[in-house]
Amino acid sequence: MTQSSSRSFPQDFLFGGATAAFQIEGAAFEDGRTASIWDTFSRVPGAVVNADNGDVACDHYHRYGDDVALMKRMGLQTYRFSTSWSRVRPDAGAVNPAGVDFYQRLVDALLEADIVPWLTLYHWDMPQAQEERGGWTVRETADRFLEYALTMHDALGDRVHHWTTLNEPWCSSFLSYTAGVHAPGRYSFGDGLLAAHHLLLAHGQTVRALRERDDSLSLGVTLNLTVADPADTSDAADRDAARRIDGQFNRWFLDPVFRGEYPADIVEDFRAVDAEAVARWEEAVTASDLETIAVPLDAFGVNYYHGELVSGHAPAVPRDSGQAPTDRKTASPFPADAGVHWIDRGLPETSMGWEVQPEGLTRLLLRLSEEYVGDVRMYVTENGAAYDDAVEDGRVHDQERVDYLRAHLSATLDAIEQGADVGGYFYWSLMDNFEWAWGYEKRFGIVYVDYDTQERIVKDSGREYARIIGERAI
Ligand code: FCB
Repeated sequence: MTQSSSRSFPQDFLFGGATAAFQIEGAAFEDGRTASIWDTFSRVPGAVVNADNGDVACDHYHRYGDDVALMKRMGLQTYRFSTSWSRVRPDAGAVNPAGVDFYQRLVDALLEADIVPWLTLYHWDMPQAQEERGGWTVRETADRFLEYALTMHDALGDRVHHWTTLNEPWCSSFLSYTAGVHAPGRYSFGDGLLAAHHLLLAHGQTVRALRERDDSLSLGVTLNLTVADPADTSDAADRDAARRIDGQFNRWFLDPVFRGEYPADIVEDFRAVDAEAVARWEEAVTASDLETIAVPLDAFGVNYYHGELVSGHAPAVPRDSGQAPTDRKTASPFPADAGVHWIDRGLPETSMGWEVQPEGLTRLLLRLSEEYVGDVRMYVTENGAAYDDAVEDGRVHDQERVDYLRAHLSATLDAIEQGADVGGYFYWSLMDNFEWAWGYEKRFGIVYVDYDTQERIVKDSGREYARIIGERAI
């Protein structure tokens, strides 16, 4: 691309990187931390590739100072990280001062480096003891979560402005309680439904309580969203397949958060498949819950990796997603997915088998802007790609990731230019890390991590990102 064709980002647009506590911290049983559901689940035979776990991960708990220095060198303006409930309130019980202290030190280091801390309270690592009391299928967990959130606010409310309650509740409910591929690894449609509701309730209660304490905070939630297109827009079965995927994945969370209601068409789809589970869920959902869940927000986080082309008819050649343990397409958490087929459109794919579809991000942001968010500012809180990186002479030439990053930053700018209010972009991930059921097999970082030595190497994509941030243009 020549200099003259470069496009600038708005002055207040924030460039960041993202991680999550369990995926990078390690120090799993140090300084009073006790097991989270991921410590337990990763020890279940077959749950995680190579039986990897988070005991050491990127050792960020001990190396956070160097990691913050690296972010500063790369020019990151903001850093999205999560705090570990099990570190701060082990077993969802009393406060653990040593755990709180770690996040105080991390935030102080970020502020010292002029990096805006963007804190997520729940990125999937519930204390195992709370799971044993029912986990997200019981209401009480939303109250325990609120206690933990208030502990974090007591400690950091004076220094952290941006608070995200949940990361991707679709994953921590349906993928975890129904599809069994994430912790705690349950296989129950009804449990997934209850978990999704109690997660949303925890979100609403927490935003409300933090707002009462301090109305100057920026409060939000992050959802993972897709763009589901019908293979043939004139075919009723294809359109219905797209409606169902959009409904189950996007609207099931967007509608309660922004409109205070669950999508009626999907409730009926679910009822047709499992009437008893839906009846149990209807007993749990009160009118006042829905009001709580629709509490006004200041920021809305959008995680986007790819969209999907779906059909109501079986294709001649089924799409091979190459997705073994984590793909909802091979282990669908939704019985209502029956009869939905994913169509291969020949797009390039990442090593997750995920299609590279940047224009989907533009369309998603515009749709959210038109149909949901009102005047709430959006942030792309995750977007990124795994590729099979190799170190050559101390460098990682990850041209595909460079292209991916540039294409999605451009797609974000396209949405802004067409009227969407998008305040920032966080690349997933700052560094290679523990990719859940894939263990350390999948590398998403713009920084390479050598897990034997814990050496960090800024990949070509990291260098390119630093250059873009420096110029504030692409
Ligand atoms: C998202 C998760 C994040 C990471 C990326 C690849 O669903 O929020 O932790 O695993 O996918």
